[in-house]
Amino acid sequence: MTNMLTKQFGKKGWTPERIGSLKGKTYVITGANSGAGFEASRILLSKGAKVVMMNRNPDKSATAIEALKLSLGQHIDVSFIQVDLGELGSVRTAANALLNLTPSIDALICNGAIAQVAKQQITVDGFENQLGVNHFGHFLLCGLLFDRINESKGRIVMVGSNAYKMGLKRIKFEDLNFDNKYTAWDSYAQSKLAQMMFGYELQRRIKAADKNVEVQVCHPGASRTNLLKDTASTFNKILWAVMSRVIAQSAEKGAWPEVMCATEQGLQSAALYGPTKRANTVGPVDQNKLDSIALNQDMAAKLWTLSLEKTSLNWSL
Ligand SMILES: NC(=O)c1ccc[n+]([C@@H]2O[C@H](COP(=O)([O-])OP(=O)(O)OC[C@H]3O[C@@H](n4cnc5c(N)ncnc54)[C@H](OP(=O)(O)O)[C@@H]3O)[C@@H](O)[C@H]2O)c1
Repeated sequence: MTNMLTKQFGKKGWTPERIGSLKGKTYVITGANSGAGFEASRILLSKGAKVVMMNRNPDKSATAIEALKLSLGQHIDVSFIQVDLGELGSVRTAANALLNLTPSIDALICNGAIAQVAKQQITVDGFENQLGVNHFGHFLLCGLLFDRINESKGRIVMVGSNAYKMGLKRIKFEDLNFDNKYTAWDSYAQSKLAQMMFGYELQRRIKAADKNVEVQVCHPGASRTNLLKDTASTFNKILWAVMSRVIAQSAEKGAWPEVMCATEQGLQSAALYGPTKRANTVGPVDQNKLDSIALNQDMAAKLWTLSLEKTSLNWSL
């Protein structure tokens, strides 16, 4: 496994112009009714792919599907399965529904998330809710869909964040829920680090087991989406509303790294893809420098075992 920083896509970086026809391909995207997930759906559908959105809110999903049909035409193949990533039972039901709906999965894009939740909240399964939604929900979903993705020679795309190298820069195994000194930032950072560590651990396990699944890890930089709208403190919402006009890029540009990771050939393992300008917050999409914390194998192995236990998943990879 390499970790060489190589720029593959020249000055302009990766753009959706590189994608050919995606007719016959199926992409599954979590949290696709707004922001980067919605824009990723639009790009993939515009290339002829089938997209299955796995969204929490049925009304918002209906509106999103209507908007996509209005802009791309009634013929597009887009559907929706209800899932709450913050409830393991809901993830199991949704995974079954998906397996009944789609004979193949070319990529599962783990995009849905909540961020900077102002006050500690605990999911029905007992997890701090950012760790529950962003990591444990996706961990279980990936495990339940893995065999189908493997049969399809498909991919798993983990949507991370620059936050992985901020906060505590570790998994707080002794206090996963931040019962002691909860902060919105540290708990979000932990959840995104967990997702990324899981992605790299999956790469290593897939290689060792000689499976046919490619895993890629990316992030959208700083993008103007709904991310902080429901969850952040009033102060952080106002701050972001003002700052994002200056420092952030469009949600569409934020979608490019995940679409690239789902479709482009020749990407590397142990690599992170995202925007390359202004501390990787905006600009041309290519490989980013990866902080070594994300590749810590001891912590990742511990997180893997813990995630199996917490989700009661039987995944012998
Ligand atoms: N925007 C940025 O600057 C930025 C920076 C770093 C990383 N990211 C990452 O980019 C990804 C996309 O986020 P975004 O910025 O596009 O934000 P967004 O517009 O808020 O989209 C997030 C999506 O996740 C869904 N979601 C939230 N909780 C869920 C749950 N329990 N079950 C199922 N779906 C759920 C939301 O659905 P609802 O509509 O039901 O809430 C929404 O559709 C996330 O992984 C985020 O961490 C974003």
